[in-house]
Amino acid sequence: MMLKGVPAPRLGGEPPWSRERPDARPAPTAHIRPGARIWAIGGGKGGVGKSLLTANVGITLAQMGSRVCVIDADLGGANLHTCLGVAQTDVTLDHFVSRRSETLEELAVPTSVPNLSLISGAGHMLGAANPKYQTKMRLIRKIRSMDFDHVLLDLGAGTGFDTLDFFLSGDLGVLICLPEPTSIDNLYRFVKAAFFRRLQELEQTHQVRELLGVAMAGTTDATVQSPRALFERIKRLEPERGAQLHEAMRQFAPRLVVNQVRNGADAGIGQQVALAARNYFGCDVQSVGYLQYDDSVWRAVRKRRAFLLEYPVSTIAGALRSIVSKILAT
Ligand SMILES: Nc1ncnc2c1ncn2[C@@H]1O[C@H](COP(=O)(O)OP(=O)(O)OP(=O)(O)O)[C@@H](O)[C@H]1O
Ligand SMILES: [Mg+2]
Repeated sequence: MMLKGVPAPRLGGEPPWSRERPDARPAPTAHIRPGARIWAIGGGKGGVGKSLLTANVGITLAQMGSRVCVIDADLGGANLHTCLGVAQTDVTLDHFVSRRSETLEELAVPTSVPNLSLISGAGHMLGAANPKYQTKMRLIRKIRSMDFDHVLLDLGAGTGFDTLDFFLSGDLGVLICLPEPTSIDNLYRFVKAAFFRRLQELEQTHQVRELLGVAMAGTTDATVQSPRALFERIKRLEPERGAQLHEAMRQFAPRLVVNQVRNGADAGIGQQVALAARNYFGCDVQSVGYLQYDDSVWRAVRKRRAFLLEYPVSTIAGALRSIVSKILAT
């Protein structure tokens, strides 16, 4: 089924997350609190612009006067330092994962932008791509207690449990996709996986957990395939608990950025995807703007410079700033 050229989410079949790890325990998610605001920047597919967005949002926030730390949380393929023109250092998240360092602050290196620090990913430490559950929890707890105004997490591709848990640990989830069917499919898959994962964390009652288990296993049962259908089923089973859960899940409201937009039709895709996610899943995805495809981006990447620093008065720099303002305003 198509929605004005945008594919609709597929509801059944394969579970939306990858099954690469046996550890199915969800990590606790973010709650509104004072202190550093955690932005988790992800999206299903590789190469869609997550690191680019993280680096340039970090620069924008720092230029606005906030104290910002960007963290390369792509534990399998760290490269955020390249987007910021910072040389690969030996001091990476790996130091924390392997307990050579007890705080994250000591791993943060300054960048060329005042107020902006970077914690590099665990580049060559392959073991860190699959940290143990306790290590992941320790890392998430430390990130959430960091002494900055904003902490930005650049996530890896895919829907592995670690990526989902880092995404859900953010106060703000930002998704990015390309205006292409494959990328949009991956985005839906990511939204659905993250939604169920958060629900799994919230839900303790046996009956509902069982239903959730069926939904997460990738089922052909249409009454649990989508978050919307699942809620209807839960409400029939346990009306009070269902209503409470539904209310709690209203806070799951990822922001969506469409990248590499080339024409007017592409520019409308964010709104259409948000609408489809609302209609089919009942998820409040909020479209916050788009970035044009721009040759200056890859030119900047080749120079290992952020496009915002290299071309600060370009259209794409303006678009990026307006996305940040829009997110800050919501
Ligand atoms: N708006 C754009 N215009 C032109 N090129 C772009 C644009 N956005 C991204 N690119 C190109 O796409 C490449 C990939 O971007 P980036 O590394 O941020 O993706 P990613 O989602 O972090 O990938 P991965 O999943 O592998 O970490 C960039 O190096 C750049 O060359
Ligand atoms: Mg990346």
